[in-house]
Amino acid sequence: MIDKSSPLPIYYQIEEQIKEQIMSGILEPGDMLRSEREYAEYYQVSRMTVRQAINNLVSLGLIYKKKGSGTFVQEKKIEQALHGLTSFTEDMRSRGLTPSSRLIDFSIIPATQVVAKELMIEEHTPVYEIKRIRLGDDIPIAFETNIIPANLVLGLTEEIVANSIYNYVENKLKLHIGSATQVIESATATKAEAELLDIPKQSPILLIERKTFLANGTPLELVKSSYRGDRYKFMININRKS
Ligand code: GLP
Repeated sequence: MIDKSSPLPIYYQIEEQIKEQIMSGILEPGDMLRSEREYAEYYQVSRMTVRQAINNLVSLGLIYKKKGSGTFVQEKKIEQALHGLTSFTEDMRSRGLTPSSRLIDFSIIPATQVVAKELMIEEHTPVYEIKRIRLGDDIPIAFETNIIPANLVLGLTEEIVANSIYNYVENKLKLHIGSATQVIESATATKAEAELLDIPKQSPILLIERKTFLANGTPLELVKSSYRGDRYKFMININRKS
């Protein structure tokens, strides 16, 4: 129950109680929450107070509202470990999800000055520009743009990139992918990203930029990915320096 004499705001106490029910599994993904009116009656508070708690939980990505039907518990976020250089296909499979891609663009373009510098190639050298929506169990998870030197990854086709680029590079071309640098930052979805990822405009997203190298140090790809913040989180194991 809630403690009206507590210094903690009432909406916050309600928010914590619902959160606890989700964390402990009393409320499971897909379950419908009570209505604002029902919560207000149950806690003996105003609907405004309940609304604030609900809206905060929506912002945290724990629940979502579906117009005309109610408020539901969100699916669990996909957790990706930040050690190990993995592909999207591997990330999904290791979580028991079926990966797929919707190809938005597949073209060969001349490298811009910036791209050329990053990939250590001459300006105007042909590069693949591949834009894909990446899905797990048919749900859009990320929108990704890869730029890859065309003379390094020979024979790429639409069919290959609709599956796994890393699989092709390693198992068909027998190239060794060695390392990558990755930068992650938060952002909100642009109109285009929101449409592609099937989320409301301005939703939180994780922007990931990866530059991948072959084991011999040759840059393989420049990648910009926008991951849905409501479906994805990163995990890292850290050791204190001894
Ligand atoms: C992840 C990385 C990308 C990489 C991709 C390869 O999504 N963020 O940098 O290009 O995996 O995935 P796949 O082999 O499934 O095409």
